[in-house]
Amino acid sequence: MLNQIKEKALKEIAQAKDLKQLEQIYRQYLGRKGELTMILRSLKDLSDKERKEKGQLANQAKSEIDEVIKVKRQKLSGQAGLARKKDWIDVSAPGFQPPEGYPHPISLVQRQVEEIFQSIGFSVVDGPEIENEYYNFDALNIPKDHPARDLWDTFWLKDIDRLLRTHTSPMQARYMEENQPPLRIIVPGRCFRHEATDASHDVQFYQVEGLMVGQDVSMSHFKGIVEEFLKQFFGPEVKMRLRPGYFPFTEPSFEVDAKREKGDWLELMGAGMVHQNVFKAVGYPLRKWQGFAFGVGLDRLAMVKYKIDDIRLFYSGDLRFLKQF
Ligand code: PHE
Repeated sequence: MLNQIKEKALKEIAQAKDLKQLEQIYRQYLGRKGELTMILRSLKDLSDKERKEKGQLANQAKSEIDEVIKVKRQKLSGQAGLARKKDWIDVSAPGFQPPEGYPHPISLVQRQVEEIFQSIGFSVVDGPEIENEYYNFDALNIPKDHPARDLWDTFWLKDIDRLLRTHTSPMQARYMEENQPPLRIIVPGRCFRHEATDASHDVQFYQVEGLMVGQDVSMSHFKGIVEEFLKQFFGPEVKMRLRPGYFPFTEPSFEVDAKREKGDWLELMGAGMVHQNVFKAVGYPLRKWQGFAFGVGLDRLAMVKYKIDDIRLFYSGDLRFLKQF
């Protein structure tokens, strides 16, 4: 009989759907007039031996039912809380404002550069970050084993005969293979170099390649366009200087510096007149075309513009820095 009562109680508890039903069950079995309570109460009329045996069983059943009800009560009241929360709207509470995103300073600068060059007739094109040796070097007049390769500390990708592009210049060759002059393009993108980092070098950085080719494109076109670009980007009072430089894919080559507020010069770009060997590599007839190319560091532009003295901040993910733009 005791067992029957216990089984019945446990079954009902398991089926109880809400707290009200559960309290009802509690009362039915363990309440003042509950079935189990009555049995416990009746024990006093039994003989010593019987009372001991039956009493133990009845008390075990009681605490088991009690425990199961407790657990179920917790479960049901959790659900009740959830259900209540969902229905309940505090119309006077302040709204939740999700944090707003904003462009990274490098993206801002990239957009500005694109706009300026588009306004002088350049198209924006994109190229792969994973390159092959041919476009990164050979097509740019840097044959295998040529010491000039050392100018670009390269991340070689194991086993697949590819590398992380060390500059955006490979797109010069890729674009000219597919298109005939006259052409005017810029190629913004990420580049990688396997070199020690310091305040002005990081293993990744952004460049914008520029390329203009036509029948009589000369150095004065280059100088005029770069000057115009720098003026639009930094303001009319910007100071720039051209220095002779060396790149295997341009002849002559030069470097362009901009004056920083603190008075020193920061190298912004490498540039030059496209080498005829590059035209040859892409299948243009020799000496038919001429043009200029440049590669400007986006990070460097951003550093001068926003007076940032350490390039590594751009890639630090530090919100205190990033939130200022
Ligand atoms: N690709 C060169 C570099 O990364 C820069 C450059 C581009 C020089 C175009 C000349 C012409 O250093």
